[in-house]
Amino acid sequence: MSQLDLGDQRAYQQWADAKRAAFDQRQSDDFAPVVDIDGDGNIPPPALQIIAQQIARYNFAIYRLQGKVEDHLASLRNIGRQLGLKEMDKNLCAREDRITRLTVQDQGRANLYIPYTNKAIGWHTDGYYNPMHQRVLAMVLHCEQPAAEGGDNQLLDPDLVYIHLRDENPMYIKALTQPQVMCIPQNIEDGELIRPQTCSAVFLEEDDSALSMRFSKRKHNIIWAEDALTREALDCLFKFLESDTRYIINYRLNAGEGVINNNVLHTRSAFVDDTQHKRVYYRARYYNRINIQ
Ligand SMILES: [Fe+2]
Repeated sequence: MSQLDLGDQRAYQQWADAKRAAFDQRQSDDFAPVVDIDGDGNIPPPALQIIAQQIARYNFAIYRLQGKVEDHLASLRNIGRQLGLKEMDKNLCAREDRITRLTVQDQGRANLYIPYTNKAIGWHTDGYYNPMHQRVLAMVLHCEQPAAEGGDNQLLDPDLVYIHLRDENPMYIKALTQPQVMCIPQNIEDGELIRPQTCSAVFLEEDDSALSMRFSKRKHNIIWAEDALTREALDCLFKFLESDTRYIINYRLNAGEGVINNNVLHTRSAFVDDTQHKRVYYRARYYNRINIQ
């Protein structure tokens, strides 16, 4: 039995209480420390300990790389290794080294996709369209340079979303763990099949009893199951994401900062670049969860 099992209310309650208490502790501590990492990506043992603690509590941690910003890309892989992150996802627009450079692009394949524009991006977890054997369970989002204006992120731990829904109505969890509840149609570009249709649950239980979430708030290219309970569950979920719940963290990454996380829900606000401040982010996605020894 795990805390996610609907039949084990006691284990669930203990886990949910601990998650909420940890979060409230964080709020009362002002803001969780931004953890300093050496410029080459080496994480000093005390910093690694803080990251491990934050991941266990909130599923994300914010770091700041020392050294020159231009050298940070090379440090990213090194960071992933120390977090126990292994195989990296290769998405359509990733570089050779599987790290994706997110910046406004005016031409080429990338400009078909919202991440490469300056538009806002709604709530989602990364790779919600990936095949099940290539689920994105962790990622590192690194800011080389922020925009002149905007481009803030909101972060929300999926555990807290699960808790909210289950406390509202445990049947919502039943609806959103149906293996076909969310389908992403195939992706065809110029007549070529880039990705087949993928259907999955919203909430999944991973091998270590941890929760993972696949979700996008976007209306296009996503087909939801049409039963009444799913509709109600989604309505509850969407309202929660639009609410002013204290569980949503707003943060604007400064140059050299990044978020290490177990693929938490996140958004990006619209932004404006100027010649001196062109927003450049790097993103590394992984198929396993953070595992710090
Ligand atoms: Fe994302």
